[in-house]
Amino acid sequence: MASNTTLHYTTPGLEPAAAERVVALLQDRLNACNDLHLTLKHVHWNVVGPHFIAVHEMIDPQVDAVRGFADDLAERIATLGGSPQGTPGTLVAQRTWEDYSIGRAGTQEHLGALDLVYQGVITTYRDGIKELDELDLVTQDMFIGQTEQLELFHWFVRAHLEDKGGRLSTEGASSEAEAARAAG
Ligand SMILES: [Fe+2]
Repeated sequence: MASNTTLHYTTPGLEPAAAERVVALLQDRLNACNDLHLTLKHVHWNVVGPHFIAVHEMIDPQVDAVRGFADDLAERIATLGGSPQGTPGTLVAQRTWEDYSIGRAGTQEHLGALDLVYQGVITTYRDGIKELDELDLVTQDMFIGQTEQLELFHWFVRAHLEDKGGRLSTEGASSEAEAARAAG
């Protein structure tokens, strides 16, 4: 697979070295969004139990939004003179996290695991926003807009895990399996 880290041109006013780092940050979030929309579909197909239809139907608008984020990130890479890498092989080779680990399971178990998934995705978006402060405010604006939506979706998930005192059943869980057990 060809590298997308060497740029022969970029958008006016952006230093080439800065643009190369911005493209790397965009590619990492492209991998995260491609992973997330596929994982969300997997959850949509594998939830079982009495709250099946509510959770099954809650997930699809998240899939559509995250697929849109992937498209925007990829087209930003191309705009900056890079080549977005969108194949499944690249995603698996480049990602720094494990594959989603829950198969057919109850709605609460999947929502508990998704709490951990969103924590990981959002934390890295926020790291990117901080770094982009010095690199490219236009890409930072895209990251901020996507993070706002992801945080909203995270709340949709967490609202199912919260008690009336405001505590999450997944509090302190450090893996998807642990969070699924705590929520289930
Ligand atoms: Fe469906």
